[in-house]
Amino acid sequence: MFCGDEREPHPLHKKPLCQEKKSSFRFWFHFLVLFCLLILYLFYTMCNNTQSLREGFSLQKTFSWLFVQTPQGNAPPYRVHLKHRLMLNDIHEKTEPHPAQQQRLQYHEAYPHNYRFVMDNPEVCKVNLPFLVLMVPVAPKDVLARDAIRATWGKDRVVQGETVLTLFVLGLSGGIDVKELQQENQQHNDLIQSNFLDTYLNLTIKTMVIMDWLATRCPAAAYAMKVDSDVFLNVDNLVIMLKKPGIPQKNYLTGLLKGNVPVIRSKDSKWYVPKELYPDPQYPTYTQGMGYVFSNDLPAKFVEVSKSIKPFNIEDAYIGMCIKNLGLSVTSPPDYSQFRDYNTRYDRCEFSKIITYILDSSEQLIDYWTDYKKPGPHCLDKL
Ligand SMILES: *[C@@H]1O[C@H](CO)[C@@H](O)[C@H](O)[C@H]1NC(C)=O
Repeated sequence: MFCGDEREPHPLHKKPLCQEKKSSFRFWFHFLVLFCLLILYLFYTMCNNTQSLREGFSLQKTFSWLFVQTPQGNAPPYRVHLKHRLMLNDIHEKTEPHPAQQQRLQYHEAYPHNYRFVMDNPEVCKVNLPFLVLMVPVAPKDVLARDAIRATWGKDRVVQGETVLTLFVLGLSGGIDVKELQQENQQHNDLIQSNFLDTYLNLTIKTMVIMDWLATRCPAAAYAMKVDSDVFLNVDNLVIMLKKPGIPQKNYLTGLLKGNVPVIRSKDSKWYVPKELYPDPQYPTYTQGMGYVFSNDLPAKFVEVSKSIKPFNIEDAYIGMCIKNLGLSVTSPPDYSQFRDYNTRYDRCEFSKIITYILDSSEQLIDYWTDYKKPGPHCLDKL
């Protein structure tokens, strides 16, 4: 029934009833229109959003190398080797300055006269003048390494008819029983200790303390060697080499020569050297730190020239700087294959020909030495 229908006029109720219906219709009409507008508006904005989402997906496809890679089929999740990923993590974690930077000022104290000997056994060189002195830098706590050397290549006092002296060089270390070290020294008379802090970054100080001891406590010895405690040393072959005709008695420094070695500027490296300590990109030719041999006139010269060379934490390269600043140079050994660094496996014949080899542990040194000293020929000669 329409409101405008006037077939059944009703004077009293018709009009108000129809007006009521009309206004309610208008209300719903407006409501619907508004509702539709609202729906349209919502639809419109949703359309826009889906478009930007779709665009987002295609962007991710285009720049997928920027996003974290997810495994696809058989493809590995990362192309970077695990080792390098760990390294990258390290780089992010280590943001604090490298100790070499923090301790920069201390390096100006490398000159050995800034330190004094706590133990120095000055008589060991006078009792029996050595032909060769083996100076072994070692951490105070490392009794096992010292005992292994005392039981192996450091044992013989006479080698190939020449007097050989083996001494251990230590710095100070917190938490180490001083009494125990003194007892060890009373028993063996082979500890040299100086009062600088014994740390990896202070190895240049230790080397200069070695040079200072040789120059002041043992100047009459013919030759000396700085040799690390993880080295297999064939002392017989070393003495034979030093007694070869033509081996210089002065200004002689030999070992495994290292030329054109770039300075490591990565702060995560054990061998990191800041530019402020050593500005050149390369080191002068030097002898590898595991073991270098020198005529015993050099230590006093090293100590003297070191006063004018800024110290840095790579001790063997620092000695290379000393040689260079003295106007001298390193010398190739008569047989360069005798100075070896990393060893892959023990070979009785090979170990009878070399002078140095770096080992993994003190136990390995004892094992190899025990076999090496067994009677019988070292090499099975093909006849
Ligand atoms: C080196 O030794 C000196 C003297 O004992 C000490 O002050 C310094 O902290 C040590 N440096 C490092 C890097 O251990």
